[in-house]
Amino acid sequence: MTDEGSNDDVELEVRLAEQDEFEPPESFVEQANVTDAGIYEEFEENWPDCWEGAADLLSWDEDYETVLDDSNPPFYEWFTGGKLNASYNCIDRHLPERADEAALEWVGEPVEEDNRTITYEELHREVNEAAAVLRDLGVGEDDIVTLYMPMIPQLPIVMLACARIGAPHSVVFAGFSAEALATRMNAADSEYLVTCDGYYRRGDPLDHLEKTNTGLADVEHGVDTVVVDRLGSNGDDFGHDLADDQHDYDDLLADHEGATVEPVERDAEDMLFLMYTSGTTGQPKGVKHTTAGYLAWTAWTSQSVLDIKPEDTYFCAADIGWITGHSYIVYGPLALGTTSMMYEGTPDYPTRERLWEIIEAYEADQLYTAPTAIRSFMKWGEEYPERHDLSSLRLLGTVGEPINPRAWKWYYTHIGNEEAPIVDTWWQTETGGHMVTTLPGVNDMKPGSAGPALPGLDVQIVDTSGEAVEQGRAGYLTVQKPWPGMLRTLYNNDERFIEEYWAEYSDTDSDDPEDWVYFPEDGAKVDEDGYITVLGRVDDVINVSGHRLGTMEIESAIVGVEGVAEAAVVGGEHDLKGEAVYAYVILEEGYEGDDEMRAAIVEGVEDAIGPIARPEAVVFTPELPKTRSGKIMRRLLEDIANDEELGDTSTLQNPEIVEDIRGKSDD
Ligand code: WT7
Repeated sequence: MTDEGSNDDVELEVRLAEQDEFEPPESFVEQANVTDAGIYEEFEENWPDCWEGAADLLSWDEDYETVLDDSNPPFYEWFTGGKLNASYNCIDRHLPERADEAALEWVGEPVEEDNRTITYEELHREVNEAAAVLRDLGVGEDDIVTLYMPMIPQLPIVMLACARIGAPHSVVFAGFSAEALATRMNAADSEYLVTCDGYYRRGDPLDHLEKTNTGLADVEHGVDTVVVDRLGSNGDDFGHDLADDQHDYDDLLADHEGATVEPVERDAEDMLFLMYTSGTTGQPKGVKHTTAGYLAWTAWTSQSVLDIKPEDTYFCAADIGWITGHSYIVYGPLALGTTSMMYEGTPDYPTRERLWEIIEAYEADQLYTAPTAIRSFMKWGEEYPERHDLSSLRLLGTVGEPINPRAWKWYYTHIGNEEAPIVDTWWQTETGGHMVTTLPGVNDMKPGSAGPALPGLDVQIVDTSGEAVEQGRAGYLTVQKPWPGMLRTLYNNDERFIEEYWAEYSDTDSDDPEDWVYFPEDGAKVDEDGYITVLGRVDDVINVSGHRLGTMEIESAIVGVEGVAEAAVVGGEHDLKGEAVYAYVILEEGYEGDDEMRAAIVEGVEDAIGPIARPEAVVFTPELPKTRSGKIMRRLLEDIANDEELGDTSTLQNPEIVEDIRGKSDD
């Protein structure tokens, strides 16, 4: 690099550091799907009919009668009376125009040259055959099918096959543990499972069927299992034989070659899928999404926020096992008939150029990823993206956690070349799709702030009494009106649904929708332009690399380890992961807080939840800081984890323990 070059770099850094507002690039605005700033007012005036446009993005077997039925809040219903099928909307209706265009571009781990382009026609065939397989197995409408697969084509194919026959899917992230699989299958009473023999991680085959079988041993009812062969002969080394109630997917497919299955007409409010997510208690929450509202919401936001057009090649680097992949790899993009990419591997294998190679080779138009990934790219250095032509990228997105302005600006310059707007999208498993974000062709961007609420949404930042806080003050994020993509309930648990999301700010005795307020349990502040900066969770949930983990779940895993008497887990700031898990552990008499015990605890957490929940640090202590009423003061443990000045310790029954723990944490 010449001296001149580095001067330019310094100038760029200085200019960027000072700039806190960015106009969307003109080249983007000229072609954007949404460019009229009047959309905010228009939606407000026409609410709730403003959502008819989103419904119009779908094909209906029967038109809906009512946009919103709010007669029984918070059990809102959308597009009632309408009938449709999600798989038809994501596949069949695109065939006349796009049969030979790619629906999915699957990029495998580079151990084999087995990348696949799956056209809409091929997707149609494979989803039909998969639907025939499921039916033949006995899956009926409304039977819940659990899917436990990594990023292989069969995952979206079987999801869409479920949708085709009206069987809700419940996808369990493949990185989750056997125990997590069993908990979810038991909770959903799910009698069907589609899994695979294994998959590759950094080139090595991994035994997934072993984990599946361990999980199945804890499922309380009979299960028919279908096993996809991902590893071919590489999987034979694991030496598993299939049990009587386990079937080889390819064998079943062979019996249904060329089969067609009519898409089942589903009511707008029929369940499309369940997705379990962590909460404050140990028991995960089964978030229920329905057919029309969810599909309309993901299609509309894919179009307005991600600016997806049918001719795009769109790349979301998330895993389909999380809501981001459901909404923005599968349902939203395919509903619009675009080409959606799927990458099986990790961004740093075989090299740190992997993602940029893929984007260059496929000429991806959008990249949607998480701040945790962006911070890793930044740490690795810009030399990796610089070796590739990324000029195809028209829009960048982030999701999962707040993005710090420095990472935002790095993404903007080194990946987007200052020519692609960034959408920082705040939403949740429960909201179905985007809620707070700029519209990329309309709004200026402010790094670190997600942006205004989407048109038609009433988001307010309030204090503990529910009153709007002053601009710039920290408060609680609330959504004051329903929206089509919202969860409908927690599976089999209406009471917990109200308790978790509504009770805080609603008059729960009222029938008036005005008295019902949705609380996502995030802190936030708002500026003079209505831009919302999300500050993070205010419940006992830790956000590790954009994934939600309940402290209770982790604590109960730790307490399950022999020799552990008590444990408290908190989130501490982490350079790459955003937050990381810090565990404070009291041992039983006679046990030693040594490396062996530490390893046992880490293993216990990985077994119970998965590697994602692995504690960053395990600190042994004779006591935990407790209030006089015996409640653990997590706030103080958080201060310790973050190496911050300690908050008020005067209400503790054992104030001296705090300094003691701090001393131990520094070791
Ligand atoms: C929680 C939801 C949304 C799909 C991935 C995670 C946090 C999400 C942002 C953002 C700040 C964010 C919130 C939210 N979050 N996006 N752009 N800025 N925080 O889904 O597992 O349901 O987690 O992730 O805390 O409540 P999830």
